[in-house]
Amino acid sequence: MAEAFDIKYLKLLQEHSILKDSFNELEIEELARSMSLRRFYTDEMLNREGEPADSTLILLEGMAHVVVKEQRVATLQDGDLFGESAFSEDASRKANVIARTDGVAAELTTEQFETLMTRQPHLAWKYQRFLDTLRRKHADFNERFFQRDTSRYVALLAHNDKKSELIEFVKRHRWFFDKYPLVATGTTGTAIFQSTGITLSRKVSSGPLGGDQVIGSMVASDNLLAVIFFRDPLSPHAHHADVEALGRVCDVYRVPFATNVVTAEAVLIHIDNNARKEMGILDESLAKYRQHQAEVIEKLRGD
Ligand code: PGA
Repeated sequence: MAEAFDIKYLKLLQEHSILKDSFNELEIEELARSMSLRRFYTDEMLNREGEPADSTLILLEGMAHVVVKEQRVATLQDGDLFGESAFSEDASRKANVIARTDGVAAELTTEQFETLMTRQPHLAWKYQRFLDTLRRKHADFNERFFQRDTSRYVALLAHNDKKSELIEFVKRHRWFFDKYPLVATGTTGTAIFQSTGITLSRKVSSGPLGGDQVIGSMVASDNLLAVIFFRDPLSPHAHHADVEALGRVCDVYRVPFATNVVTAEAVLIHIDNNARKEMGILDESLAKYRQHQAEVIEKLRGD
């Protein structure tokens, strides 16, 4: 239900909203004259993706989530604006916006914008240019947010006493390592680059500082052809649990996990023969697990 602005909300708009960096107080007051207040309630769908964008909203109180493809891409609060596609050529909503709390927004509808255009064309144009800039910024952000790395890397890791062995191995098989994108944990990566000149496509944190877990997450997102991890079996390591977890996730996804030089030799040949072909072997346990999880989701949806 539309309400007129009172002084409290005008002050919020002037002092705490996204408008304050681009418009002076007088301009904001003029804009507010064309706007109305809209109250909203927890879980209300404020924007629905694909629907016509017929207003802009600036949050004055409360919080909302911007959701694209079931993922929260932003949390809106304290003077943030949404619905910036309104008054543009492609005036359709680009995302769902769902209220997380009750709140109040300053709304400018297409009709109100048209009135502003007649009364104060200069200000209306300025507001439209401001929305254009915002739209471009958000489009860039969304593109980056959903950009997925689809490369398939070979990961290189070695415990300290095995690093020189890995460097010798890399030198011996330069033909292979020049051909595939490489990722390594921090110290191993630096050592390989300094000793062989081979450049990596990605470097993650040092193993004991979480790097092995990052490599594990790359296995889970299908970014690894193989993990070559020269482990030192004769000394204890603080991050033993991470190394175990990495081996386990490789088993889940059936990514070759070579922990010594002889296995690594075999893995290189295997990768080079098969990298461009699909393995095509049905993984029954993984298929069964995924089916089970789909049933869990289905059951929870019904509850
Ligand atoms: P590092 O990590 O390359 O940073 O030494 C390897 C590891 O020990 O997991």
